[in-house]
Amino acid sequence: MAKALVLGSTGHIGAHIVRALLAEGHTVRAAYRTERFLGVLDGLPVERVRVDLDQPDSLRAALPGCAWVFHSAGYYPSAREKREAAIRRGMESARRTFEEISRARPERVVFTSSAATIRAVPDRAANESDAEPWPPTQWRHLYATVKIAMEQEALRAAAAGLPVVIVNPSLCLGEYDAHTFSGRAVLAFAKYRLPWYTETCFNVVYTGDVGLGHLRAAERGRIGERYLLTGQNLTLKELATLVTAELGLPPPRWRVPSFLAVGVACAVEAFAWIRGREPFFTRQEVRRVRTGYRLDGSKAVQELAMPQTPIQEAIRRAVHWFKQQGILKEV
Ligand SMILES: NC(=O)c1ccc[n+]([C@@H]2O[C@H](COP(=O)([O-])OP(=O)(O)OC[C@H]3O[C@@H](n4cnc5c(N)ncnc54)[C@H](OP(=O)(O)O)[C@@H]3O)[C@@H](O)[C@H]2O)c1
Repeated sequence: MAKALVLGSTGHIGAHIVRALLAEGHTVRAAYRTERFLGVLDGLPVERVRVDLDQPDSLRAALPGCAWVFHSAGYYPSAREKREAAIRRGMESARRTFEEISRARPERVVFTSSAATIRAVPDRAANESDAEPWPPTQWRHLYATVKIAMEQEALRAAAAGLPVVIVNPSLCLGEYDAHTFSGRAVLAFAKYRLPWYTETCFNVVYTGDVGLGHLRAAERGRIGERYLLTGQNLTLKELATLVTAELGLPPPRWRVPSFLAVGVACAVEAFAWIRGREPFFTRQEVRRVRTGYRLDGSKAVQELAMPQTPIQEAIRRAVHWFKQQGILKEV
């Protein structure tokens, strides 16, 4: 059994990595940054340590004695950040973090990247061989660009001798999504009753499967390799229909072109800004899904025995958890 440090353990993916490790008898040091989301670790037999990746001393203090390190402390650039500054920030944070981890000489490091680093290809589902190089060959939205840049730092660290395996989850749905970043796809239709959808497709995966995929990557992943952690390819309309069916609501009726969706997101952001709140969806998110694509995650299924929970079940669990937390009211 191994002792593992999980960075970002209060995050959606981190909370599932922690549970996957505990379920198989490993010992977990759960790193959190802010106490606000510590509730997702309630009742779990873990050692809690405070780590802020912008304060390298806190990471240095958390590393000793851990054979495995899971880096799932995601940096999400906000809609307000300047593009160049956000890319630089993501790269520098990843470089600093891998340097610090290298000094502790762990046996395995698993870095949570994103399926957004894979480029869409015509006529087939994209796979790991379609990963964007740095700099990307085509314009990518800010989130993808930052993730591609950070992934390069992971590859650089692997080439320099750090035993790092990269995992690239697609859109994760499931419990413990306290930051509601990926859960917005569910909340948009369930809570805000978004009456329209755009024509796009993407891949959706149960976060519990992603948590286990991380553990298997530590056990059997090949160093310096990428593994797409994926579930099912769906259109946005199919996803919305599953979400609304779970709640007994009618599915969204209107299909709108993506340029109109960008316009609506612009209005939503302006309204949220006036009210001093976070917008429930942004232009950046519309751009993220605009170039829809299908993914082929068979490498992780074969090499890591990545499970494939039906997406209906992931939606059921996400909706149930959002209701339990009062994020989503009974409808
Ligand atoms: N969720 C998805 O659908 C998805 C899909 C593909 C890839 N990913 C990637 O997976 C990673 C994790 O995603 P997630 O959905 O689990 O994110 P999340 O729910 O927002 O959680 C992120 C976690 O990282 C911590 N964190 C962020 N910046 C940190 C810093 N500077 N120092 C220490 N901790 C920090 C957060 O702490 P606080 O609680 O203090 O904020 C939180 O615990 C991200 O890199 C994301 O890009 C996510």
